Amino acid sequence: MTTDSSHPRIEVEHVKKRFGTVEALSDVSLTLKDNEVLSLVGDNGAGKSTFIKTLVGIHQPDGGEIRFDGEPVTIDGPKHARKLGIGTVYQDLALVDELSVAENLFLGRMPVKKVGGLVPVVDQEYMAEEAERILSEHLNIHVDPDTPVEFLSGGERQAVAIGRALVTDPDIVLLDEPTSALSKAAVEHVEELVQRLRDSGHSVILIDHNLEEVLSMSDRVAVLFQGRIVDVVDAADVTRDDVVSMMVSGHRANEDTDDELAGDESDVSSSRSSTA
Ligand SMILES: Nc1ncnc2c1ncn2[C@@H]1O[C@H](COP(=O)(O)OP(=O)(O)OP(=O)(O)O)[C@@H](O)[C@H]1O
Ligand SMILES: [Mg+2]
Repeated sequence: MTTDSSHPRIEVEHVKKRFGTVEALSDVSLTLKDNEVLSLVGDNGAGKSTFIKTLVGIHQPDGGEIRFDGEPVTIDGPKHARKLGIGTVYQDLALVDELSVAENLFLGRMPVKKVGGLVPVVDQEYMAEEAERILSEHLNIHVDPDTPVEFLSGGERQAVAIGRALVTDPDIVLLDEPTSALSKAAVEHVEELVQRLRDSGHSVILIDHNLEEVLSMSDRVAVLFQGRIVDVVDAADVTRDDVVSMMVSGHRANEDTDDELAGDESDVSSSRSSTA
């Protein structure tokens, strides 16, 4: 129950996702509100990427419901998610090495022009111009749009992946570790981008291991522990230590844990396999 006036864009209710014996998401309920930056934090293997992939239909949930603007939806895959106005940067970036920067940005949605009014061909010129514009305007990154991405640095590749999520002008942006390979200066561009997205009415889900970045960029922070939500807190109300403590203990900050710890230990050994 919330008294908040902003309406929810995405509501995830009791979602479960299991891979063999690993319960990657167990009964996760989480709401992305209109025009907020919601961060997802948790240790390696906590289920953060699985949550994002379930939202965009790469994984189908084993149970629970996802509502988009109040309507229950079954999202078939990333293409469907994009149609709904969701742009995603995946943790593995999902770029095609042999293709150029511009081709990666427009992968699966290449603009077409008619030559002589008849023959449809990919509009390379438009793609190159747009690729340059998107990367420089949004991220202040300047790369030749015709370069195959295999030759780019890690940070440039990450920028291409972010640019790719923005090509369709989404109003919801999901960022899974968008800054992990970036220099300090480039991280600042991503921070500015997230700020700009929020200022222009977007909703953002951000996954980031750097808790300082998380706390400075987010409105709310959801802490995941072994596939379940520990707590969702306002970023302004918590310290970095509070968040770390929830991430490693799986308990809310200041929660009385004496009785639960014993139960949790057996949970860990019985229901989770270890993750690298
Ligand atoms: N496709 C898959 N097949 C089998 N197991 C998977 C698959 N995807 C994720 N898992 C498992 O689900 C759990 C959650 O993984 P997930 O990638 O969501 O974690 P994460 O929170 O994103 O971690 P990290 O911070 O390392 O990126 C892990 O135990 C992982 O090994
Ligand atoms: Mg991940």
